[in-house]
Amino acid sequence: MAKKIRVLVTAGPTREMLDPVRFLSNVSTGQMGYELAKAAKRRGLDVTLISGPTLLKAPRGCHVISVLTAREMKTAISKVWARTDILIMTAAVCDYTPVRYSARKIRRIKQKAIRFKRTEDILQSMGRLKGGRLCVGFALETDHEVRNALRKMKAKNLDLIVLNRFGPGNNPFGRNRASMWLIGRDGRSRRLVRVSKTQAAGEILSDVLGLWQLSSRF
Ligand code: CTP
Repeated sequence: MAKKIRVLVTAGPTREMLDPVRFLSNVSTGQMGYELAKAAKRRGLDVTLISGPTLLKAPRGCHVISVLTAREMKTAISKVWARTDILIMTAAVCDYTPVRYSARKIRRIKQKAIRFKRTEDILQSMGRLKGGRLCVGFALETDHEVRNALRKMKAKNLDLIVLNRFGPGNNPFGRNRASMWLIGRDGRSRRLVRVSKTQAAGEILSDVLGLWQLSSRF
């Protein structure tokens, strides 16, 4: 029997704790990643889903690892990296984390400002360790969409990038239908018009498996 293709999907936001009760995060719901995990499972792939905090039900038959912070997400990815053929990074990783975590609640009158530092660009790091794997990234843009997506694809050594635009008439978060572009490493692109996350997941996966087949590792 042919070896199952092993897909690693990341989903949801990360949460960077300031103190026991406060955090920095974003509005990601995790929907796109969960739909991709389900679609991959339906196609008989071996699926690991590394998820930040979401309200979604764990997809059946997937190996689910829950994480909180960007750092935890990186650690979890590194652990399964040797058993990964395709990485699909939908997670909305926080770009900043507090310089210092306070074990006690931060008091308003004692602290005037909070300092943040950059988190690691996980996808970029994994892109450098890609070997024969495929890496797929997402870009969320409000301006200079295509230029930024192409820049990210190059900087992170990706095979495919899914470009989502956030702006009037297009809100890619949650259950909304949204339009997006799938842009390949070779510069070829196609547009998905007002698709649901389920439809988008199916289309993205078709392209990814097409690329995998092209690189004759099926
Ligand atoms: N990403 C990541 N680690 C980060 C930030 C982003 O792995 N610290 C990944 C995301 O999962 C996504 C891709 O990189 O697949 C692009 O994320 P995006 O937020 O659009 O871009 P950034 O690289 O963070 O750049 P900017 O915030 O300046 O747009």
